[in-house]
Amino acid sequence: MPPAGWCLLWLGLVLASVCTSLESAASSNSTTAPLNVLLIIVDDLRPSLGCYGDKLVRSPNIDQLASHSLLFQNAFAQQAVCAPSRVSFLTGRRPDTTRLYDFNSYWRVHAGNFSTIPQHFKENGYVTMSVGKVFHPGISSNYSDDSPFSWSVPPYHPSSEKYENTKTCRGPDGELHANLLCPVDVADVPEGTLPDKQSTEQAIRLLEKMKTSAHPFFLAVGYHKPHIPFRYPKEFQKLYPLENITLAPDPQVPAGLPPVAYNPWMDIRQREDVQALNLSVPYGPIPVDFQRKIRQSYFASVSYLDTQVGHLLSALDDLQLANSTIIAFVSDHGWALGEHGEWAKYSNFDVATRVPLMFYVPGRTAPLLEAGEKLFPYIDPFDSIVELMEPGRQVVDLVELLSLFPTLAGLAGLRVPPRCPVPSFRVAQCREGQSLVKYFRFQDLDEDQYLRGNPRESVAYSQYPRPADSPQWNSDKPSLKDIKVMGYSIRTVDYRYTVWVGFNPREFLANFSDVHAGELYFVDSDPLQDHNMYNGSWGRDLLQSLLP
Ligand SMILES: *[C@@H]1O[C@H](CO)[C@@H](O)[C@H](O)[C@H]1NC(C)=O
Ligand SMILES: *[C@@H]1O[C@H](CO)[C@@H](O)[C@H](O)[C@H]1NC(C)=O
Ligand SMILES: *[C@@H]1O[C@H](CO)[C@@H](O)[C@H](O)[C@H]1NC(C)=O
Ligand SMILES: *[C@@H]1O[C@H](CO)[C@@H](O)[C@H](O)[C@H]1NC(C)=O
Ligand SMILES: *[C@@H]1O[C@H](CO)[C@@H](O)[C@H](O)[C@H]1NC(C)=O
Ligand SMILES: *[C@@H]1O[C@H](CO)[C@@H](O)[C@H](O)[C@H]1NC(C)=O
Ligand SMILES: *[C@@H]1O[C@H](CO)[C@@H](O)[C@H](O)[C@H]1NC(C)=O
Ligand SMILES: *[C@@H]1O[C@H](CO)[C@@H](O)[C@H](O)[C@H]1NC(C)=O
Repeated sequence: MPPAGWCLLWLGLVLASVCTSLESAASSNSTTAPLNVLLIIVDDLRPSLGCYGDKLVRSPNIDQLASHSLLFQNAFAQQAVCAPSRVSFLTGRRPDTTRLYDFNSYWRVHAGNFSTIPQHFKENGYVTMSVGKVFHPGISSNYSDDSPFSWSVPPYHPSSEKYENTKTCRGPDGELHANLLCPVDVADVPEGTLPDKQSTEQAIRLLEKMKTSAHPFFLAVGYHKPHIPFRYPKEFQKLYPLENITLAPDPQVPAGLPPVAYNPWMDIRQREDVQALNLSVPYGPIPVDFQRKIRQSYFASVSYLDTQVGHLLSALDDLQLANSTIIAFVSDHGWALGEHGEWAKYSNFDVATRVPLMFYVPGRTAPLLEAGEKLFPYIDPFDSIVELMEPGRQVVDLVELLSLFPTLAGLAGLRVPPRCPVPSFRVAQCREGQSLVKYFRFQDLDEDQYLRGNPRESVAYSQYPRPADSPQWNSDKPSLKDIKVMGYSIRTVDYRYTVWVGFNPREFLANFSDVHAGELYFVDSDPLQDHNMYNGSWGRDLLQSLLP
C-alpha cells in the first residue's frame, strides 16, 4: 500500500476523485498483479520503419520493440487527420459515431458521452497519465485533453511546443524563418530543447514515480514528430545524404484520379520555404530537388523520434518495469511523401491511412526477463553497425485502429466493452472495433497467419470529407458545416474501393444515391493505387451494403 497521503503528495495535486478511484484497485484481491500500459502515439508516422521493411529508414529502437512484439502489417486509421482519428480510436468509435470529421466539436456534447481508453483504465483502478499530444488539443478534447474523465492527473504538454510554428529555422540567408524543413541546432533554439525531448524526460519522471506505486499505471506518450514542420536536431540529416534519397515511385497525379479524391496539401504550401517555390495551386508539382529534401527531413524526423522511443524504453527497462508493462505503439495515420503527386495526409489512399501498430506483452510476445537482463537497451542510430533486427511475430490480416480500445482492455485483463448496438449514441460503454486479443493466443494459431502467410478475408474502413468536387483552399480540412461529399473507403485483401457520395452535415446523412465519384484499385496489379478501375458497374448499393 502507498502511504495514505500518496495522492496528495504526488505532483502536489489534490484530486479527490483520483484518490477514491484508486482505493478500489489497491484492494483488488487478484493473485496476479495487473499489467501496466505504456501507449506510444506518434503523429503522422507512416510505416517507414525498418521493422516494416523500409530499407532506408534507420529506426533501430522501434525495430527492437517490434522484435519483441506482435506487429500488425496491415493496420488502417479510420480518418487520415489527427483529431478525428484520435477521437475515433481513443473512444473506439467510427467518425460517423463521434461525428467529428474536423477539429471543432467535443464528442461528449456533440455526439454521445462515450468512454475513452484511458477512462476505462482509470475506472478500473489505474493511474492514468497523458504526456504530449495524446488527444488533439483544443475544443475536440474540451481544451483539457478530456480531463478529468480520462486522466488521473492534469496532462503534461512540453513548454517548447509553442515554438514549433514560429520562426526558428535558419535559412540559407542566415535569417530565421517558419519553414517546412527545419533542422536545428538544439542548443540554439528557444529553451534549448525540443518538445519530444521534454516529453520523453517527463514520461521517464512519471515512470520513476510509478515504480514504487501500488497501483498499476496507464501512461500515454504522444510524440509530435514527424508531424510538420520538420524541426529536428540537424545531425539526423547526416543519416540521409540527399544523393541517397529517391523520389516517390509514382510522383505524378494519376490520370484517372477523380478531383474530389485529391488533397491539395495546403498546410505545406503555407510554410515560408515552400511559398518561395511559387507552386501552382492545386496540382503544381514540387521541384524534384525539394521533394528529396522533404523526404530527407521526414526520414530524419523519424530517426529522431526513434531515439526518443529508445530512451523511453531503456528507462522502462532500467526501472525493471519491462516485465510488467504492455507497450502499444501506434500512429494516428500515415503521410504521403509525393505518391500520386500528393503530400501530407487528408485522403483515403493507403499511404495516408496505413499505420504502424504493434503490441509488446510481457511473457506473451516475449519471454519474461531474467533478473538483470534487458529487452530494450538504447541503440544509437548513428552507430554504423546497426544490424537489422530479427522481426517478431507479425499479423498480415487487415485491422483497424478502432481495435486499440478492446485490445488493450483485453490484454490487460479488464472487461472488454460489448459491441455497440446501431445506433449507439446513448451507450457510453461499447466498442465498434474488433478485439485483436485472439492473435495473441499463438498456440491456437496456424503459423501461416504470420509473416509468410496469406491474409484472411478482413476489411478496414476509412472515410474522408470534402467541401467540393474539385480541390480548393479547404479541401484538406473542411469544417463540418462545409462538408458536401464524404468518401467512404473499404480496404480488403484484394482491393481498395472508395465512393464519394453526397453528405448532409446538418443531419449527418450520406446519400448513397448521389455518387460523385468512385475509385477502385486492385492490390496485386496496382499496389501503389495509381490505376483507377472504377467504372460505375459495381453499383451504388455495393459499398453501402458492405459498410459496417
Ligand atoms: C477482497 O477479499 C475480501 C475478503 O475475501 C473481500 O471482503 C473484498 O471485498 C475483496 N475485495 C475485492 C476488491 O475484491
Ligand atoms: C459522462 O460520463 C462521465 C463519466 O462516466 C460522467 O461523469 C458524466 O456525468 C457524464 N455526463 C453526462 C452528461 O451524462
Ligand atoms: C468542458 O470544460 C468546461 C470547463 O472546464 C466544463 O465546465 C464542462 O463541464 C466540460 N464539458 C463536459 C461535457 O464535461
Ligand atoms: C548511400 O548510398 C551509398 C551507395 O548505395 C551507400 O554506400 C551508402 O552507405 C549510403 N549512405 C547512407 C548513409 O545510407
Ligand atoms: C517566385 O516569385 C517571386 C515574385 O514573382 C520571384 O521574385 C521569385 O524569384 C520566384 N521564385 C521562384 C523559385 O521561381
Ligand atoms: C521477471 O519476472 C520473472 C518471473 O516472475 C522473474 O523471475 C524475473 O526476475 C523478473 N525480471 C525482472 C528483471 O524483474
Ligand atoms: C439523394 O440523391 C438523389 C440523387 O441526387 C436525390 O434524388 C435524392 O433526393 C437525395 N436524397 C436525399 C434524402 O437528399
Ligand atoms: C468494370 O470493371 C469491372 C471490374 O474490373 C469489370 O469486370 C467490368 O468489365 C468493367 N465494365 C466496363 C463496362 O468496363
